[in-house]
Amino acid sequence: MHFKRGSILLAFSLAACGGKAKEPDSRAVEHAGSGAMSGDMAMQMKMGMAAPSADSQTLLAKVSSYATWPKFAENSEPKASRAHMNMYVVTFHNDVVTAAIAAHTLPLPDGAVIVKQNKMKADAPPQTLTIMSKQGGKWFWLDATPDGKVVTINDMPQEGFGAPMCTKCHDDASNNDYVFTHSFAK
Ligand code: HEC
Repeated sequence: MHFKRGSILLAFSLAACGGKAKEPDSRAVEHAGSGAMSGDMAMQMKMGMAAPSADSQTLLAKVSSYATWPKFAENSEPKASRAHMNMYVVTFHNDVVTAAIAAHTLPLPDGAVIVKQNKMKADAPPQTLTIMSKQGGKWFWLDATPDGKVVTINDMPQEGFGAPMCTKCHDDASNNDYVFTHSFAK
C-alpha cells in the first residue's frame, strides 16, 4: 500500500527518512552534505509501506518502550528543523548509549539504540520513527511507522545494514560514529 500523493504526506515522509530538502534560500541548509536532496529529487520519490523484515521486527520489539527512554539533552524537546521541512524531531536513546555518553565511548558498542521521532507538530504523535541500532559492529537502519510498518522509498524498504538512503547523509558524521545529535568524543 502506498501513501496518497500530497505535499503534506511527502513532507512527513521526507522528514521520516531524516530527509533534508534544499530550502528556497539555501542559507538555511544546516547540513550541506552530499546527501542534501533537491526539491525535484524529492518529488520523484514514491513513498510507501511494507512489512518489516525479521531483523526489523526484532528491533521494533526491542524499541517498543522507547518513549520511556532518556532523550539526548541536545534534542529533548521537539525541535522544528527548517532543513527538515519544519518537521519536529525528538531523539531517544537506550542505556547502552547513556553509558557511552558518560564514558565518551567511540565508536558506540553493540546494543546501542537511538530512536528519533518525526512529528508533524510539536505536540503531535510521531508519524514515523527513524532508528539506528548497533549490531555486530555495524549500524542497522530502520524507518518505520509507530505501528510497525517499514517506510519504502521507490519500493525500497528503508531497513538494513548500510541502508543507502540513510548513510548518504549520515556518512558525513563518520568521525562521530555516524551520529549527528551528540558528540561522543568530548
Ligand atoms: C538528508 C540527510 C539525512 C538522511 C537521508 C537521513 N538522515 Fe538521519 N539525520 C540527519 C541529520 C542531519 C540528523 C540530526 C538530527 C536532525 O536534524 O534530525 C539525523 C538524525 C538521525 C537520528 C538521531 C541520531 C543522530 O544521528 O543524530 C537517527 C536515529 C536517524 N537520523 C536515522 C536515520 C535513518 C534510519 C535514515 C534512513 C531511513 C536517515 N536517518 C536518513 C540526516 C539524515
